[in-house]
Amino acid sequence: MNILVTGGAGYIGSHTCVSLIESGHTVTVMDNLCNSKVETIDKIELITGKKVTFYNIDVTNESEVDRIFSKHDFDAIIHFAGLKSVGESVSKPLDYYYNNLLGTIVVCRVSLKYGVKRFVFSSSATVYGDNESPFVETMKLLPAANPYGETKAMCERILMDMVKANSGYSVTLLRYFNPIGAHESGLIGELPNGIPNNLMPYITQVAKGKLEKLKIFGNDYPTADGTGVRDYIHVMDLAEGHVVAVEKMKDGLQIYNLGTGKGTSVLQLVNVFEEVNGIRVPYEITDRRPGDIAECYADAGKAESELGWKARQTIRDMVRDSWRFEQNL
Ligand SMILES: NC(=O)c1ccc[n+]([C@@H]2O[C@H](COP(=O)([O-])OP(=O)(O)OC[C@H]3O[C@@H](n4cnc5c(N)ncnc54)[C@H](O)[C@@H]3O)[C@@H](O)[C@H]2O)c1
Repeated sequence: MNILVTGGAGYIGSHTCVSLIESGHTVTVMDNLCNSKVETIDKIELITGKKVTFYNIDVTNESEVDRIFSKHDFDAIIHFAGLKSVGESVSKPLDYYYNNLLGTIVVCRVSLKYGVKRFVFSSSATVYGDNESPFVETMKLLPAANPYGETKAMCERILMDMVKANSGYSVTLLRYFNPIGAHESGLIGELPNGIPNNLMPYITQVAKGKLEKLKIFGNDYPTADGTGVRDYIHVMDLAEGHVVAVEKMKDGLQIYNLGTGKGTSVLQLVNVFEEVNGIRVPYEITDRRPGDIAECYADAGKAESELGWKARQTIRDMVRDSWRFEQNL
């Protein structure tokens, strides 16, 4: 298939481009590089040995997006482009609503205009809010604790209405849990701007000495060791989930969790990182972070039974690959 990947220079998008190309698809990337670097496109080409068509374009700019669609004949779109920092979304809510909602609406409008009928959307486990884990696709969604999560829930609703109104259209909402790890080559991985918002790049930067200490937000949650529990998934497993999802699209709306179904606490993750990589990660416990929930892990059964997809890599694989990538920087 000829696939448009918006946000394809970013963390999950770049790994998905590699998996798509390795599965025989052709990818075109649209990214405004607001949270990524153009060199990542070269790295995707280096890993795969294939050319990637890249456009430095903002997906909120409808005439520019339209211009690209008019030059290509896309079979499907995977829409990753969006702002993703929970903390920043609290201080800059309008930027998040503007970018994430408008970008999604523009890409949908143009895809309808050009008759591109397969649309895969990057959603997030945050749409489940403070439900009890494991999160199942059929659960009633609860308000997300921050504007970022709300943008994901709103985009889901927009896409649900669009697919209802347009027969023959396919939309798949993929609710990701916590991607970590990096491509085994160590060439691409997560590249946060400034102080990392996500745990794994924080750990690797402390291990490397770029940051002094890891801050663990709270050790008084009702979990085994008191620290928050999340469902960490290797980014290459997540990338493969997209390949299967886009290849097995059906008419109408589909929703899948992409997680492992297993919860790991912050302290467990730090301990495995130290053990596998033989390096210490100094940390301190600080107050809970507003909006964080105690536990978040997936019921991953639906993706396995309907798509035949299952995450394969272990936490040990994830911490090894994250560290390899950080060392290469
Ligand atoms: N990383 C996670 O933990 C996680 C979890 C759940 C969902 N998601 C979602 O998955 C998607 C990809 O996440 P990621 O971790 O790869 O983030 P990322 O920031 O690495 O990648 C997003 C990419 O989108 C680009 N982008 C943002 N706004 C754009 C715009 N208006 N026009 C064009 N390009 C734009 C950025 O430059 C970046 O390259 C995002 O939508 C994110 O919300 C991420």
